[in-house]
Amino acid sequence: MRQSIGIGLMGLGVVGGGVARALVERAEALSHQVGCPLRLRKILVRHPSKKRPFKVERRLLTTDPREILDDPEIDIVIEVIGGESPALQLIKEAMARGKHVVTANKEVIAKHGPELLSLAREKKVDILYEASVGGGIPLIAPFKQDLLANRISAIHAIINGTTNYILTRMAAEGLDFSSALREAQQRGYAKPNPANDIEGIDAAYKLAILATLAFHAQVHPEDVYHEGISRLSSHDFRYANELGYAIKLLGIAKEEDGSIEVRVHPVFIPEELLLAKVDGVYNAVQVEGDLVGRVIFYGEGAGALPTSSAVVADVIDLAQRINLGVSITPRLRLDPTKRIRPIWEIETRYYLRMITDDRPGVLAQISRILGDLQISISSVIQKESDISADVAEIVLMTYPAQEQAMQRALKQIEKLDVVKQISSFIRVED
Ligand SMILES: NC(=O)c1ccc[n+]([C@@H]2O[C@H](COP(=O)([O-])OP(=O)(O)OC[C@H]3O[C@@H](n4cnc5c(N)ncnc54)[C@H](OP(=O)(O)O)[C@@H]3O)[C@@H](O)[C@H]2O)c1
Repeated sequence: MRQSIGIGLMGLGVVGGGVARALVERAEALSHQVGCPLRLRKILVRHPSKKRPFKVERRLLTTDPREILDDPEIDIVIEVIGGESPALQLIKEAMARGKHVVTANKEVIAKHGPELLSLAREKKVDILYEASVGGGIPLIAPFKQDLLANRISAIHAIINGTTNYILTRMAAEGLDFSSALREAQQRGYAKPNPANDIEGIDAAYKLAILATLAFHAQVHPEDVYHEGISRLSSHDFRYANELGYAIKLLGIAKEEDGSIEVRVHPVFIPEELLLAKVDGVYNAVQVEGDLVGRVIFYGEGAGALPTSSAVVADVIDLAQRINLGVSITPRLRLDPTKRIRPIWEIETRYYLRMITDDRPGVLAQISRILGDLQISISSVIQKESDISADVAEIVLMTYPAQEQAMQRALKQIEKLDVVKQISSFIRVED
């Protein structure tokens, strides 16, 4: 049994502030859980004199990472700086010195997870990252433990609060994308530079982490096909509603016949599904396992308090094991041979919206192209959109078809004289 367990905190921003607050204000309860006190020994920041919502003792702050890395009394390093550099290097140096690591850093884990896990194994330490996906929602631990007996077949995940907020506002108020984004920025739900969120990059990092855990495969962020939400228009939401669907930015991961598909893009989903009702900045992850069936994890995907809940839980887990003196190394084993299926091999249904000449025979030309490529139409809506310009808006839904065939069809349809514009192309997940 230990006298105490030393903690070094790297980063005191949104998440670090919440973690410091929990470690200080809940010290007694945490000590009770662990069996000995957790001592916060140093906090790494860039600007020690910055005003912060949670005030910590000035003597705890440092701008020199060595004060954490070289302190033999620190057993656990919490990395909540974010980004790849210097966070990755600091995590590696901490592990090289025999320290366990807790991180909320999705970018580092998505890009370097397998490498960090083998370094951890080599150094006989562990690295936990519950907060890297879904803020406070328990996700990583369930995949690592509670769902282990299952063969997971699919994950459907709303894992980016910013885009879910924007899509919710577009659906509810008929806002166009740029107005909804502006509103999200004014409310602090979108960053001044929102590219990582709206282009699906943030969700791709998180999906790579979840797919790695679910399928025990090495899924790199570059394996994840991603498309953002900036091309969606209020027309698409209107038609989705007419057809009985909601539009969500989903992370989809599936394993079939030993190969894995991983993609992030806007999707039509039936409006009666639970995922379709996940609104605002909330996150939800639906998992399908052969034993457990369909389970959904739902909650706040970001913010100081929810995220600190996940970070501190990881700290407690490590501290309990340190205190008991049991060996601590990563349990996850990955199979590097699993194949990632490229996007053009997937099969799904499609929604297509286009502006065409308003005259007879247009639909026949489009149907011929689709038919020649074995793509069947399941429904069509045709509306006059501008009588004076003699153009119509055509909306098509297809039966399941191969992505490769669909992309070929789009290229041919685009070249038709009667087609002015393909305005939207959205995959459908029933
Ligand atoms: N925010 C959320 O809701 C949320 C949710 C889930 C996961 N995460 C993840 O948690 C991590 C932290 O996010 P955050 O929102 O807390 O970030 P943040 O508010 O920007 O805080 C970053 C902290 O790191 C410090 N820092 C930055 N660069 C540094 C450097 N080179 N050397 C030393 N200190 C440095 C900053 O110091 P100063 O304060 O002195 O500038 C600041 O305290 C990220 O990986 C993020 O993806 C965040």
